[in-house]
Amino acid sequence: MARPFRIRNIAVCAILIIFLYRFLPSADVVAPFHGHSHGGGPQPLAQYMNDASKIPHIVASKSSFAWNTVKFMYPPELTPKLPPPAPKRPRIQHIFKPESASVAAIQDKRRLEIRRVFGKSWASYKKQAWMKDALKPLSGQFVDQFSGWAATLVDSLDTLWIMGMRKEFYEAVEAVASIDFGKSTSSRVNTFETCIRYLGGLLAAYDLSGHEALKVKAIEVGDLLYSGFNTENRMPVDFIEFEDAKKGGGLYVEDTVVSASPGTITLEFTRLSQITGDSKYYAAVSKVMDTFYDHQNETKLPGMWPMYVSMRRQDVVTGYQFTIGGNADSLYEYLPKAHALLGSTSPSSAKYEAMARNFMDTAMKNLFFRPMIPGNEDILISGNCDVLESGEGELTPSLDPESEHLSCFIGGLYALGGRLFENDSYLKTGVKLARGCMYAYKSFPAGIMPERYNMVLCPSAENCKWDEERWVSERQKRKEWKEHLPKGFTTAKDPRYILRPEAIESVFVLWRITGQEEFREAAWDMFQAVANATDTSFANAAVLDVTIVDSKQEDYMESFWLAETLKYFYLVFTDPDLISLDEFVLNTEAHPFRLSKS
Ligand SMILES: *[C@@H]1O[C@H](CO)[C@@H](O)[C@H](O)[C@H]1NC(C)=O
Ligand SMILES: *[C@@H]1O[C@H](CO)[C@@H](O)[C@H](O)[C@H]1NC(C)=O
Ligand SMILES: *[C@@H]1O[C@H](CO)[C@@H](O)[C@H](O)[C@H]1NC(C)=O
Repeated sequence: MARPFRIRNIAVCAILIIFLYRFLPSADVVAPFHGHSHGGGPQPLAQYMNDASKIPHIVASKSSFAWNTVKFMYPPELTPKLPPPAPKRPRIQHIFKPESASVAAIQDKRRLEIRRVFGKSWASYKKQAWMKDALKPLSGQFVDQFSGWAATLVDSLDTLWIMGMRKEFYEAVEAVASIDFGKSTSSRVNTFETCIRYLGGLLAAYDLSGHEALKVKAIEVGDLLYSGFNTENRMPVDFIEFEDAKKGGGLYVEDTVVSASPGTITLEFTRLSQITGDSKYYAAVSKVMDTFYDHQNETKLPGMWPMYVSMRRQDVVTGYQFTIGGNADSLYEYLPKAHALLGSTSPSSAKYEAMARNFMDTAMKNLFFRPMIPGNEDILISGNCDVLESGEGELTPSLDPESEHLSCFIGGLYALGGRLFENDSYLKTGVKLARGCMYAYKSFPAGIMPERYNMVLCPSAENCKWDEERWVSERQKRKEWKEHLPKGFTTAKDPRYILRPEAIESVFVLWRITGQEEFREAAWDMFQAVANATDTSFANAAVLDVTIVDSKQEDYMESFWLAETLKYFYLVFTDPDLISLDEFVLNTEAHPFRLSKS
């Protein structure tokens, strides 16, 4: 009689232990986020977030300077007010069906392998470079290139959370709570990098964990960045003179900046206003975006803005070079995403949708091209467009079939735009653009695409037959040509891979939006190639030449490796409800901001 009773007791205990294990904070808790519970069931993340007893008591220490006490010579206007959350959004993600146990087991193995690679880099950062901006992955040294506020630590917070590394997460929060944003290792602070890495990282970690210390630090950085708007025309400076900014006497706006720089503040400042209930951040950045909106149709390529702009003169029309790649990229990225975060219910927020649709139509017509490749695959690559004056003052756009790794985010953005604006032609274009980057990865010997390269334009999208002689002659015209380039490529102008995320970013978005297996399989191929080529004894390093196998590496690992690249790889193989695109919008550093509900 006693025995079965005991066995039952043990069974009850085991069930209890398993249950507790699933929901207790631990470095190894991953299971709850990978149960295939699609739909509206209880969310482990939210449950954890609301259980105050499980959150360590960490209080943020005040920075040595209070950025909210600056007396502005040129105080920005406090309107428009932050509009209420968007009423209803169209569905973004594919509705996934439960998978067979054997398929799920494969994906789970892949997910754990990605987490292992992250864990190795993280452990080395902790041991070799703790509280520094970046680890040097070959020498084990460190470097402070972003003002010395532990960029890698702040940038990695949400990845730690997402990967279920709770112990490491709270160790990191404790360290972040002590960062002094009143001191800087550099006399000038880079507005763009500080916004996307530090403010973005803190906001996302707060959105996921609800930890107050993160909110306190996010507000400190937000107020630091806000001091960059203390200028005569209320346009932000590109670099904040750190000590001058504290005095409040006004800063001097640079004459020329890359357009991405003033164009990549909207998401962070809007989310900060949403979280604090203080509209001032939203109002300040809204004025910047008014300048872009007012002149969008007056440029040499109406619908887009030149790569270089002057916020000093509020001139966003004069230049002639157009691209969605480096220098401009996230200006465009933030237009559909601002619409996702804000909706279009007020005049000040409706401009984001208008600008997004306008640029998407323009880029589709003028920048994307079908390359001539041996298998005639129907893919798209994003090139550059120069608009020059011909004889009679007529403007002629000319497309240069050069592209770069940075441009690879655009496929995911068109897919997202396709869902947000319920437009199938954007979505189809997004699929072809993502396939373009997947094709480039597959083509190179290392299994990774180069930083910058050229291809051959097809005479037209319909007429795209492979012509080997034409490829050879186009390749020889380029002085950078290399004999061993894959067919279809005419240069690998910059043959490095520096751990960038944009290609896997688009593959992740396309997987979540279409549910098509090709994207998940491509992600795994890409991961293996990247992990193999970049592996070092400490972590992962940039690769010097992807046109050969076994290339040399460079002693360089930017924080986006942990913040973005590995996060996107990981999220392809998790439950699709983890960081669902219906609940979050990701900033340009892959930091997820929660979409407020009305
Ligand atoms: C710019 O042009 C687009 C497309 O023709 C149009 O929809 C939009 O209203 C115009 N924007 C402004 C500010 O005039
Ligand atoms: C979708 O976008 C394309 C390209 O801009 C446009 O021609 C088409 O009218 C749009 N369709 C819808 C339903 O909005
Ligand atoms: C990378 O390494 C793994 C394990 O050693 C191996 O299975 C895989 O085939 C390699 N991938 C590539 C692209 O070399």
